[in-house]
Amino acid sequence: AADIADQLTTVLVTEEEIHEKLAELAARVESDYEGKDLLLIGVLKGAVMVMADFSRRLHRDVVIDWMAVSSYGAGTKSSGVVQIRKDLDTDLHGKHVLIVEDIIDSGLTLSWLLENFASRGAASIEILALLRKPEAAKVEIDCRYVGFDIPTDFVVGYGLDYDERYRNLRDVAVLAPHVYS
Ligand code: PRP
Ligand code: MN
Ligand code: MG
Repeated sequence: AADIADQLTTVLVTEEEIHEKLAELAARVESDYEGKDLLLIGVLKGAVMVMADFSRRLHRDVVIDWMAVSSYGAGTKSSGVVQIRKDLDTDLHGKHVLIVEDIIDSGLTLSWLLENFASRGAASIEILALLRKPEAAKVEIDCRYVGFDIPTDFVVGYGLDYDERYRNLRDVAVLAPHVYS
């Protein structure tokens, strides 16, 4: 609610850098999936901005679906045990799936999703993630399309939240420690 500049330390990735990178990734995806139907699955809520901007960079049609998941158990960190809040509307059998995520942190959410989607008989499953924190990985995730590798600082903006706030910021920025301590 107060001045946003006081709540952030540094901008890690600017709006311009994001859009340039998404255009690059879109060109790769177009060529990799030439002649194939493509199903984009966005992981709510963080992936909303990436999905909106990335999908509109594609010069082809795709089907878009959404899945909402949440880790349960105590604490704010992903436990790896994931609960489905909103399931897909699409049957995955035989589909070429590209999961669209804002960030890979521990990797636990995607690890669970990969297994879940594979069990539904998808023809192929790949991942696009705007951000990745290599030093935070608890499980290795094979992500074909990565935007930016970033340090382990707590980041917000462009879909990423702290306690549901800051998702609407245009850049990805480091949250000032005084906000959460
Ligand atoms: C965040 C982020 C990823 C996940 C990454 O989602 O959007 O989906 O955590 O963390 P992990 O690699 O450690 O599993 P969150 O659970 O905060 O829900 P949200 O997308 O609604 O913010
Ligand atoms: Mn998320
Ligand atoms: Mg979140």
